[in-house]
Amino acid sequence: MNWTKAERYRSLRDVSALEMEVLRAKTAASPWRFGYHIQPPTGLLNDPNGFAYYDGEYHLFYQWFPLGPVHGLKHWYHVSSKNLVHWTDRGVALVPETKEDSHGAYSGSGFVVNDTLHVMYTGNHRTDDWTRHASQIIGVLRDGMIERRNVAIPDIPVGYTEHFRDPKVWEEDGSYYAIVGAQRTDETGCVVLYRSTDLNDWTFLGEVKTELEQFGYMWECPDVFELNGRHVLIFSPQGIEPEGHRYHNIYQSGYVTGTLDLETLVFTHESFEELDFGFDFYAPQTTEHDGRRILVGWMGLPEIEYPTDRYGWAHALTLPRELSLEDGVLKQRPVLEMEQLRQGQFVNESGAHIDVVSPERYELKMLTSGEDFELELLKTEDESLVIRYEKDTHELTIDRTNAGEPFATEFGTTRTKVIEVTSLHLYVDSSSVECFVNDGDAVATLRVFPSGGEKRVRYVGDGASLVGWKFE
Ligand code: FRU
Repeated sequence: MNWTKAERYRSLRDVSALEMEVLRAKTAASPWRFGYHIQPPTGLLNDPNGFAYYDGEYHLFYQWFPLGPVHGLKHWYHVSSKNLVHWTDRGVALVPETKEDSHGAYSGSGFVVNDTLHVMYTGNHRTDDWTRHASQIIGVLRDGMIERRNVAIPDIPVGYTEHFRDPKVWEEDGSYYAIVGAQRTDETGCVVLYRSTDLNDWTFLGEVKTELEQFGYMWECPDVFELNGRHVLIFSPQGIEPEGHRYHNIYQSGYVTGTLDLETLVFTHESFEELDFGFDFYAPQTTEHDGRRILVGWMGLPEIEYPTDRYGWAHALTLPRELSLEDGVLKQRPVLEMEQLRQGQFVNESGAHIDVVSPERYELKMLTSGEDFELELLKTEDESLVIRYEKDTHELTIDRTNAGEPFATEFGTTRTKVIEVTSLHLYVDSSSVECFVNDGDAVATLRVFPSGGEKRVRYVGDGASLVGWKFE
């Protein structure tokens, strides 16, 4: 279906209860609906937004276009959880309805001030001749809805284009800082910083000076935080060409670690690393609570058609991951609370050949000897997702060439990471796989759209142990 502008930029306010019911029924009839991931009730989900711990719970929002699987008028949808595993549906929280966000309440972050959850997000406005204007807006959560507080940053500083968005706010030494994704007028990407003491007046501090001067045409969704005494800057650069095994998705998402000097704005850092070597990961956001830094990403990418489109919905968020820096390596582990979903084991075997029937949704842990192996998931007569390891080259390859309904094949059907594999930790849901390698040294996230029917897990190699738990 081709969506006209009028159809794309319809607000939820103009949709009847009956129409929503029809969309809901269409979505509910879809195969591949998730069991334990955050997914939209209808329409399209993209970036995680406003992630913050507030009033005894984690609050998480996401970019949402309610009416179909396209990037139309973005609202914010709200869920919350006490344990990062079971999420309460809190419904729509932000409906764009002012001039500044007339064409979308784009991505932003959450922060708590005086016991009130605040957010700063990008108002996306288009003029009649479709010229974009971005501004950064502060809102507060009251009675389940985000109400506008003020337009914090109404304009773009000289030297940057209207691709200026996704503010991430944090407090430090009595000041609020906002880091914003930007594009210079010469069409290269970067991030810039603002500071405020009262949330009303925001001073433009300038650009964060990294060693990545020429690195794509736009940096989206920045996030910066301290982890084990170092700074981590996460962002999602667009316009990076493939290089060996890296950068094969349409857009990338990664990080640098180092030291950010808030006086000089110089960020001294190590090389850029991808956060995830899978096919479907973008625009992550983190929050901190109880000394833990938790990351959630969008399990999808822009400008790609997915098989669920025909059921009127698209995408989900990744599982929450806990971050730490250990010997300079950014570790990403599934949050321990995930164990609460275990419903009993479906496999607990060691050997050189293992072949068992698997449930639809599960967790699987595998310890290997370091030799070559092939692990097949979602295996039927003629489909399977193959995870292959070659000891000689240390290449770990995820192959979804024949893993169900094909999509996005123009970006390739395999992803490879060079890593000495000792263990895999997998989470399989109805249409996704998240694969943590060596206790969080690397992660691969991917969507997969298998046919119906019984599925198996099959291992062939030198010898491994597999333990798996069925999930709710
Ligand atoms: C990233 C992004 C953000 C923007 C949002 C709009 O996926 O393009 O830069 O704020 O999505 O939905």
